[in-house]
Amino acid sequence: MPLPTRDQAWSLLCQWVQSDSLRKHMLAVEAVMRAYARKYGEDEELWGITGLLHDLDFERYPDMNDPIDGHPRSGLRLFRESGYPEALLHAVEGHAPYLGIPRTSRMDSALVAVDELSGLIMAVGYVRPSKDLGDVTVKSVRKKWKDRAFAAAISRAEIEEFTAELGEPLDEHIGFVLAALQAIAGDLGLDGRLASDQFRSGAASDEHGQKTGSGMSL
Ligand SMILES: [Fe+2]
Ligand SMILES: [Fe+2]
Repeated sequence: MPLPTRDQAWSLLCQWVQSDSLRKHMLAVEAVMRAYARKYGEDEELWGITGLLHDLDFERYPDMNDPIDGHPRSGLRLFRESGYPEALLHAVEGHAPYLGIPRTSRMDSALVAVDELSGLIMAVGYVRPSKDLGDVTVKSVRKKWKDRAFAAAISRAEIEEFTAELGEPLDEHIGFVLAALQAIAGDLGLDGRLASDQFRSGAASDEHGQKTGSGMSL
């Protein structure tokens, strides 16, 4: 099978991923990858499906030190057996630096530049009283950038390195990712409708949407 359709990729994701926050993370990365593909005149389906599936096996195989099955090795095995495009496999390999496979394409670099930053921006949205990404600005993301206790599992230094690798100025990249996420805020549960919910303080997440409890300042 070549690249799966969006429907096929989504049902695969629903089989493998039960966590709502991980599904949202993958939807977020998909949306930004699609936006970057459009900006660069690249293959939007390829970029979008790659974003949607990049963490497919993370819930089942989160142990990155497991050299056989650990994320993203199980996913890669499935993608390879399914005959997915080499470019998709390479980008998924490239987002896991511990596999030692260098990123070579623009899509490889875009995936890592988007992965953690989308998590950070969503975290900024979650801690806003409005729970609305529409209220988040580049400035408010930058403020949380400096707050090392906020979403502490997300490495700002890595995002900066990956953004440079993609060739985008940091503020423009933040603005671009933010706009792409705002466009699907409803799918991410960040369109303000959760504003009345009693959110637990300290509900921090890493870029995979996993709860870390790492002292997010509310
Ligand atoms: Fe991952
Ligand atoms: Fe991810």
